[in-house]
Amino acid sequence: MIAPLIDPFQRAVNYLRVSVTDRCDFRCVYCMAENMTFLPKKELLTLEELDRMCSTFVRLGVKKLRITGGEPLVRRDIMTFFQAMGRHLESGALDELTLTTNGSQLERFADQLYACGVRRVNISLDTIDEAKFAEITRWGRLPQVMRGIDAAQKAGLRVKINAVALKGFNEDEQIAITQWCASRDMDLTWIEVMPMGDLGEENRLDQYWPLKDLRARYADAYTLTDLAERTGGPARYVRLEETGQKIGFITPLTHNFCESCNRVRLTCTGQLFMCLGQEDMADLREPLRASDEGEGKLEEAIRAAIRLKPKGHDFDYSRQQVDGQMSRHMSHTGG
Ligand code: GTP
Ligand code: 5AD
Ligand code: SF4
Repeated sequence: MIAPLIDPFQRAVNYLRVSVTDRCDFRCVYCMAENMTFLPKKELLTLEELDRMCSTFVRLGVKKLRITGGEPLVRRDIMTFFQAMGRHLESGALDELTLTTNGSQLERFADQLYACGVRRVNISLDTIDEAKFAEITRWGRLPQVMRGIDAAQKAGLRVKINAVALKGFNEDEQIAITQWCASRDMDLTWIEVMPMGDLGEENRLDQYWPLKDLRARYADAYTLTDLAERTGGPARYVRLEETGQKIGFITPLTHNFCESCNRVRLTCTGQLFMCLGQEDMADLREPLRASDEGEGKLEEAIRAAIRLKPKGHDFDYSRQQVDGQMSRHMSHTGG
């Protein structure tokens, strides 16, 4: 029997999010600066090293693997890695292999992802207005993402839309986006904007649109039922009775969900972040590269890291100032 990964607060860690690249073909204003400096390629774990790393986590009890970035589908040969992870689905060691993507490359990859065992994708999309989409993503183009969504659904992938709630930006689209998701049978989750990355001119407090406001607006238009179901992520769900639709809320600011946190994050350079909102990090690249055949050193380093998992983040806007600010960008740890 292999001992499961349990942190100091008795939370079992069975969900690994892996950022396979810090690069992205978009420049979303709340995520990246326009002129980002990316890591030199030689700093990255190779796909084979990522395989060894993830396989070790799976052996230690990780059941859910989410591939993120930057934009995961811009990493060269990434399908090789998805194929490699697919074998853990076949063996039953892994319950779910999935990804969070901006959708730009799905037209090309949707069928291959399905063939690797992926059944669900989360697509980040904050607006369905072409001009606003170009404004918020700087480099993204909505029709390309729409073709990606078409391809994903055609391939048999279940699609969830993740929208960051941004005051004065997509407030007026709340119901339109909801209806659009209903018409395409897609789930929808709203996310509160977190203070990740120093974005200079962008002011978080100005962007912040608390999800209790969205909820109140839904309650004006629909009958809401709170749902108990969980996907293993931080979202809490309600059903809109009139449409039967499920809406998720991810509320790191208005409601802290850290007590049920079950995940850790691996970056493309092999750093393990035990929390999205803390600086604590363990380097796994060195023990990986020093590891023997049984990956003993790596396993030891992972267990030591889990023992350091903090209780939660310190994000807080309630004093009319931004507390808990993280200097690293979301694209570094993958959301
Ligand atoms: P499913 O529930 O499986 O659909 O996925 P998920 O919600 O875990 O993953 P997804 O990539 O859709 O997460 C959406 C966003 O929620 C992330 O990009 C983050 O912005 C936020 N999020 C996810 N996990 C955490 C967490 O542990 N802490 C905080 N503060 N935010 C998180
Ligand atoms: N706050 C909340 N969500 C963010 N994302 C990127 N930056 C932030 C932020 N500062 C979201 C993206 C995507 C996911 C990877 O993280 O929109 O859905
Ligand atoms: Fe790229 Fe996602 Fe960041 Fe937008 S939020 S710049 S799509 S990594």
